[in-house]
Amino acid sequence: MATKQHTIWEKFLQPLFGLIIDREELKKLSDNIDWDTESDRMSSPEFVYPEYYLSQNFHGVEGGYLTSGAAVTYDPVTQYVLAPSESWNREAVIKAVKGNPRKIIDLGCGTGSTTIMLKQAFPNAEIVGLDLSPQMLVMAEYKAQQAGLNIQWLHRLAEATNFADGEFDLVTASLLFHETPTDIAQAILKEGYRLLSPGGQVIIFDGNQKVLRQTPWLTEIFEEPYINDYAAGSLDAWLGAAGFTKVLTEDVWWTNQLSTGVKSVSI
Ligand SMILES: C[S@@+](CC[C@H](N)C(=O)[O-])C[C@H]1O[C@@H](n2cnc3c(N)ncnc32)[C@H](O)[C@@H]1O
Repeated sequence: MATKQHTIWEKFLQPLFGLIIDREELKKLSDNIDWDTESDRMSSPEFVYPEYYLSQNFHGVEGGYLTSGAAVTYDPVTQYVLAPSESWNREAVIKAVKGNPRKIIDLGCGTGSTTIMLKQAFPNAEIVGLDLSPQMLVMAEYKAQQAGLNIQWLHRLAEATNFADGEFDLVTASLLFHETPTDIAQAILKEGYRLLSPGGQVIIFDGNQKVLRQTPWLTEIFEEPYINDYAAGSLDAWLGAAGFTKVLTEDVWWTNQLSTGVKSVSI
């Protein structure tokens, strides 16, 4: 495993989060869910994980996202990372949606926080949440059930979703691209373009590339294996290269950005 030892995350933030997160709630989630059975049920049969995903730890968690520990601690930590408020940040995705999408796919949905907000905002839309981690999907499904929402959760690669061309009219991804190598981010955007019907929209919410480029200490803090490559890149350029038009990236608070693009209707 290619992880740096004694990073700021490991030395200071991990113990700090250990103090502020609600341990009772974590224990309840760990006990309430039969993680082995549920993760097996959620897993696609004979799934082969890509090396870029298997070979790394994320946020210093040994085993990365393929652990129940990652799934249970993700939300309690993320609420502090998305300053000044997680819901304000995620709300930017919902506000950016044009019209009334009928079918939405949220790529790299994780524990489903944005996916769930999309379903709440567009209750009549058919919504798919797709991720590489069965454990994160188990958590997402648990949250959706608690909220009484019907969302389809799928264990698949965002860069090879197996859906037909043009099946969706909105493709979203939150906090996914800073966790993938650049060539995979670009492959995911191409797949997103393929999945959209003409006139369909893509919305990407992630770390602010401009800010991350100028603040190496921020990339150091989060112990993310691919965040420096992400910071050096340009979502605008990647979206353009994937075929999107009307590409626009705006800051969301200080540390995040929201990019949108459209699949043109060909004449
Ligand atoms: C930082 S989390 C973001 C989760 C969620 N979208 C959110 O906004 O909180 C990144 C997620 O992307 C997933 N992921 C990474 N690479 C992926 C890929 N190639 N295909 C599908 N999911 C992927 C991880 O398993 C993880 O759940």
